[in-house]
Amino acid sequence: MPGWASSTGAVVPDEASRAPSVAEVPSTEADDDRRWRRVLWSLPSGLYIVGSRAGQRRNLMTASWVVQVATSPRQVGVSLERASLTLELIRAGGIFTLNLLPVDERALVRRFAKPVPAGDIHVDGEGAGSMAGVRVLAAGSGAPVLAAAIGVIDCQVARIVDLGSHCFVVGRVVGVGGGEDGGGEGGGRGEGGGGGEGGGGGEGGGRGEGGGSGRGTAPPMRILAMGDTRMHYGG
Ligand SMILES: Cc1cc2nc3c(=O)[nH]c(=O)nc-3n(C[C@H](O)[C@H](O)[C@H](O)COP(=O)(O)O)c2cc1C
Repeated sequence: MPGWASSTGAVVPDEASRAPSVAEVPSTEADDDRRWRRVLWSLPSGLYIVGSRAGQRRNLMTASWVVQVATSPRQVGVSLERASLTLELIRAGGIFTLNLLPVDERALVRRFAKPVPAGDIHVDGEGAGSMAGVRVLAAGSGAPVLAAAIGVIDCQVARIVDLGSHCFVVGRVVGVGGGEDGGGEGGGRGEGGGGGEGGGGGEGGGRGEGGGSGRGTAPPMRILAMGDTRMHYGG
């Protein structure tokens, strides 16, 4: 990279490459914005569906800003747009799931990347709504689980940090498992049943390669990540 531009405008030229530094190349604000986006977009990330629930209202949304943040107690975090329905339901319900999808489920990711209009929120027992036609189970916490998920992380909200455009939601992991179609042991229950251990893990515990369904000798399913799509988020 030929040099660094910071938010203060300071430039550190790269002497070794003798490439033109940012200061020498006339650039518009739009160019800078594009460059900042390109670099931020290149951060590798996964791609998940967040399940949320408050009372009878449920929702599923696509998210890529997801990370494990502690092992004891086990906690994960997801950064959510302040205005999203998902954040509203998570604040009210105190629970959420992270659904890991097989690589061929890109259509689900596209479907749940659209904001849900107020009149289209899924309400249990009302049939229609944004989740219509999608097979959904319930995790031990009661939050929705996609039947198509390879793995599910079931969480109770530990804290919510306000970051401006987004809020970072930290969840304590209260269960893990697989969806119905995606394999893994335990996990989602039909409407009523237990949570359960097992499922979408890689090799044993904290370290190692892996991911995938981990059941028997079947080849592990590859988990969908941002790099498998032409999508971007943030920047
Ligand atoms: C590839 C991709 C990744 C996304 N990642 C996130 C994310 O990490 N956090 C977030 O708040 N929104 C993310 N979004 C946007 C949400 O999916 C979108 O705003 C959604 O409509 C919000 O849903 P809701 O209002 O139903 O909760 C992403 C969108 C795409 C296409």
